[in-house]
Amino acid sequence: MIESQPNLKALFLGDVVGRPGRRAVLFFLPQLIAQRQPDLVVVNAENAADDGLGLLLEHYSELRALGVDVVTTGNHVWEKTELNELLEKEDRLLRPANYPSRLPGRGLVIFTLERGPHIGTEVAVLNLQGRYRMSPIDDPFRAGFQLVEETRKKTKLIFIDFHAEDFSEKEAFPWAMDGTVTGVVGTHTHVATQDARILPRGCAAQTDLGMCGPLNSVIGSRPDLSIERSLTAVPLRNEVLEGPAEVRGLWIAADTETGCAVLVESLCLGPYGV
Ligand SMILES: [Fe+2]
Repeated sequence: MIESQPNLKALFLGDVVGRPGRRAVLFFLPQLIAQRQPDLVVVNAENAADDGLGLLLEHYSELRALGVDVVTTGNHVWEKTELNELLEKEDRLLRPANYPSRLPGRGLVIFTLERGPHIGTEVAVLNLQGRYRMSPIDDPFRAGFQLVEETRKKTKLIFIDFHAEDFSEKEAFPWAMDGTVTGVVGTHTHVATQDARILPRGCAAQTDLGMCGPLNSVIGSRPDLSIERSLTAVPLRNEVLEGPAEVRGLWIAADTETGCAVLVESLCLGPYGV
């Protein structure tokens, strides 16, 4: 009897927000890795800086040292211009692929797994951004079709972080990719959706992973600022709420032969911190 290959196990964490989010990831991620031994770990860190806007080299390095294989981002990736050099240099730090090509960095990485039973297996991680109620960049659907078609010449194990605001666009995107990629995880809105599932042709999907960030907040920020903004229409800036934080994400197991997901599980750990 031929023993079948074990499934590939991938862990995705939602947007890391500020110091509380980083602290919670620092606490929970090593436990998750030790207990579940994922082959691939992908974390969106576009809000990891102290002020929740963008990230810095130190935040990227900290996540990579914890065992994160790929760091994805989104619209806030351009907040800290000192990151541009790193975007050019580091192929495991992604920015959405559908921004203008003259901007630094890339939105797709194909690499071989470095640990576990699938060591040497090629996988791809693609970062795209939606356009509804966001900047009018290139069409993520067309960009996705084209990049996935090219990538499938190398591997069927393709995972997409779809960073988007509007739920009609965000929920439609995995359907457009179903049958061609292993999973699509939504990021950016910071509120987890309870819809983790596997679509009919094998694409794992969750419309939004939720965040790794402050528990008693409004999308990571002080609730009083959101309330005041609603009451006055004054565009007050968000401020990261200090305090206990949760870690949210998605666990995907996939058949390495077909590239189809066979299991999805939403994760929520915490809160951690004071
Ligand atoms: Fe975002």
